[in-house]
Amino acid sequence: MAKQVSEKILIKNGRLIDPKNKIDQVTDLLIDDFKVVKIANNLNDSAVRTIDATGKIVASGLIDLHVHFREPGDEEEETIASGSAAAVAGGYTSVVCMPNTNPPVDKATAVEYVHRMGRQARKTFIYVMGAITKDRAGQELAEMGLMAEAGAVGFTDDGCGVQDAGAMLRAMKYVSMFDLVISQHCEDHSLAQNGVMNAGYKATVLGLAGMDPLAEEMMLWRDIQLVKKTKARYHAQHISTAGSVKIIREAKEQGLPVTCEVTPHHLLLTEEAVADYDTNFKVNPPLRTQKDVEALRQAVSDGIVDALATDHAPHLQSEKELEFVSAPCGMVGIECALPLYRKALIDTGICDWSQMLAMLTWRPAEIIKAQKGSLAVDDRADIVIIDPDAQWSIDVNQFHSKSRNCPYQGWDVKGKVLYTLVAGEVRFEAKGHDAVSD
Ligand code: DOR
Repeated sequence: MAKQVSEKILIKNGRLIDPKNKIDQVTDLLIDDFKVVKIANNLNDSAVRTIDATGKIVASGLIDLHVHFREPGDEEEETIASGSAAAVAGGYTSVVCMPNTNPPVDKATAVEYVHRMGRQARKTFIYVMGAITKDRAGQELAEMGLMAEAGAVGFTDDGCGVQDAGAMLRAMKYVSMFDLVISQHCEDHSLAQNGVMNAGYKATVLGLAGMDPLAEEMMLWRDIQLVKKTKARYHAQHISTAGSVKIIREAKEQGLPVTCEVTPHHLLLTEEAVADYDTNFKVNPPLRTQKDVEALRQAVSDGIVDALATDHAPHLQSEKELEFVSAPCGMVGIECALPLYRKALIDTGICDWSQMLAMLTWRPAEIIKAQKGSLAVDDRADIVIIDPDAQWSIDVNQFHSKSRNCPYQGWDVKGKVLYTLVAGEVRFEAKGHDAVSD
């Protein structure tokens, strides 16, 4: 069989930002055979497709450590195909799928299934995290070794934290044997109670049960004691409180192998948003206070935050229309995450494009040990081309995602993904203001 080759593409005059290689310059890129083959000024090659990137940012494709594509089991909310289409529309060339599907991804065959569906979708590159415990029930360890062999890039019971410290200790010891990461949804159920929003005055006024920040911080603190003992690589998912920032900061100062991620919603929204009982703002961990938002932004500024993730969590409208207490937690956002990060981090002077792209590319890649996230000659041509100043309004009805539970409907934002290339192939191209994928 003839060797497959990708189309030759020349990207001209873009501002190439490659934070890993400390590059920020206007130049041309030639892509051939799935890779970047030349980076130089004034490249010309008549036999290729040319993309004029004048005034645009050209960067390594974005990597999201935290998505819920709901397959297997909840395909009416999202499929790997629809989630993948949403991902490339958001500029993401790689995503990591969470295992809280139905049934959960707690076996090698399930990991293989998700990979296979990702290959079939042929949009973004799909990575998988397997469950830490069988059935995500928090007790007996899942077949982590076999899932690692099948290509799982880490383990998490996301949606739930592992409550049992002994189980977590065993998981950390086990995972150290193959140097993958344990990714934890930090939530101690005995402290979270049945909280549906941040605990405090606001929850009392609204008559809703509150979830104490301590529920997150206590499990994070406990896990870090286990990391001290095991030296396992540990990643704290969607941290949301000032207290969590302090704990992570101290762990890093002690040189522990601890990383963390934050989401757009915890960087932009506070518990005030819940005032109208709009369930699109119901998320776990819950939206916190302005003080927490500021602590998270400061953590980004100080380099404490390793990765910007989305926690893209599709849910049916019929479920989100239930009363606040009964509606499921989560929001979709992978298609508008980039401009939201811009709003939270660049427009506020917290960081510049290069610093922000580092947390969206090579730093998350290192956590899952993917050889990705930079854009030098011979690197795989996973590329996003961004118009940094294009203004647009978020319209959930234009989303490729199957779900519409997005709290940003109607927001005016700045920064638009124009092209997403995966292994040298254009997998998404925005047409005017109507994003259309090929
Ligand atoms: O809000 C959330 N939704 N938080 C999680 O941890 C899980 C996610 C989901 O799966 O819907």
